Amino acid sequence: MGATPAMVKALRKVRHEVLVQKDAGSKIGFENEDYENAGATVVSGPEKVYTADMIIKVKESQPSEYPLLKENQILFCYLHLALDPKQTEALLKQKVVGITFETVVDCKGRLPLLTPMSEVAGRISIQAGANALHMVSGGRGILLGGVPGVLSPGKVVIIGGGIVGTQGAKMGVGLGADVTILDTNLQRLRELDDLFEGKLRTLYSTHVTIEEELMNCDLVVGAALIPGKLTPKLITKEIVKKMKHGSVIVDVAIDQGGCAETSCSTTHSDPIFFHDDVVHYCVANMPGACARTATIALTNSVLPYALGIAEVGYKEALLSDPLLRSGMNVCLGKVTNEHVAHDLNYDFHDPEEVLKSL
Ligand SMILES: NC(=O)c1ccc[n+]([C@@H]2O[C@H](COP(=O)([O-])OP(=O)(O)OC[C@H]3O[C@@H](n4cnc5c(N)ncnc54)[C@H](O)[C@@H]3O)[C@@H](O)[C@H]2O)c1
Repeated sequence: MGATPAMVKALRKVRHEVLVQKDAGSKIGFENEDYENAGATVVSGPEKVYTADMIIKVKESQPSEYPLLKENQILFCYLHLALDPKQTEALLKQKVVGITFETVVDCKGRLPLLTPMSEVAGRISIQAGANALHMVSGGRGILLGGVPGVLSPGKVVIIGGGIVGTQGAKMGVGLGADVTILDTNLQRLRELDDLFEGKLRTLYSTHVTIEEELMNCDLVVGAALIPGKLTPKLITKEIVKKMKHGSVIVDVAIDQGGCAETSCSTTHSDPIFFHDDVVHYCVANMPGACARTATIALTNSVLPYALGIAEVGYKEALLSDPLLRSGMNVCLGKVTNEHVAHDLNYDFHDPEEVLKSL
């Protein structure tokens, strides 16, 4: 869900009209009357929602929504256009202004509208892994925290100490598991060492250290990322073969191809499969499992941007803020993101020049 009642209230406070699609939040406990009480007008179908000047949602537009988009309309959500030629064609044809969450950057070059999803997925990774270790899932029957009198707790190895890895480590350490985190960024390993004050081990990531750690662990979390590239295959088929039967790989990085050669994308309804008796959990949209938490986390980050755009209009908001502008992937029939243009064979148009020409 793209907005909480609290977000509606904040937009109404500065006198913007807000339309909310009927029942859109009901599955996560945000009822129509909650939105009405916050000042929204609840409307019955997408046709009415799409009369608005700015559409805020989570996922990319669906084919049934393409004809409802209109010229000059702002579409503010995850778009992933480089992977979706049909949607790109539709957005160009309908001449919308597509500002995508995943390419907005902050002043430190981070991706503030992707961060909340990584935080949620990182924390889920340990819960999902703990579950997959149960006998009924085909796991080793290990309780991550152990119990008194049982020599060692479960052993968790996290590959990648960024946002997903750090949040996973917090959950693992919190449960009492024996956690090791590997990264190629030494500075990040130093920061993690300070942050966790000796409660986990840090290790420089190489093929050798990964193999050694994985042969003895119960749960691996794949959380490595090289921005703009497919995830490196750090867990080879040979390593998986040497892992203990019933151990678990939670490959969070599956949305970028996955850290394990043996991974392939799964869904919430059928989340795990086995390769060489190792349980693989590879759900590409992990935050969807905790949609209420994910919605609140995402809207906390989206709200300031939405307020800024609504306040002065997209042209002024995007021209005055190059970091927000990096989120604009299409504008009135032109592709304004270099990667999308390159990957889908369109001409690239400089976003600032396109906006100035309007
Ligand atoms: N499945 C899902 O639902 C879901 C949700 C959110 C994020 N993700 C994915 O999780 C992955 C991690 O996201 P993030 O936000 O933590 O990224 P991040 O950029 O914060 O962290 C990635 C870390 O990987 C490290 N790394 C790079 N190469 C490495 C190597 N060879 N060995 C060990 N570490 C290495 C980097 O130094 C960095 O610290 C991404 O692929 C992201 O798309 C998936």
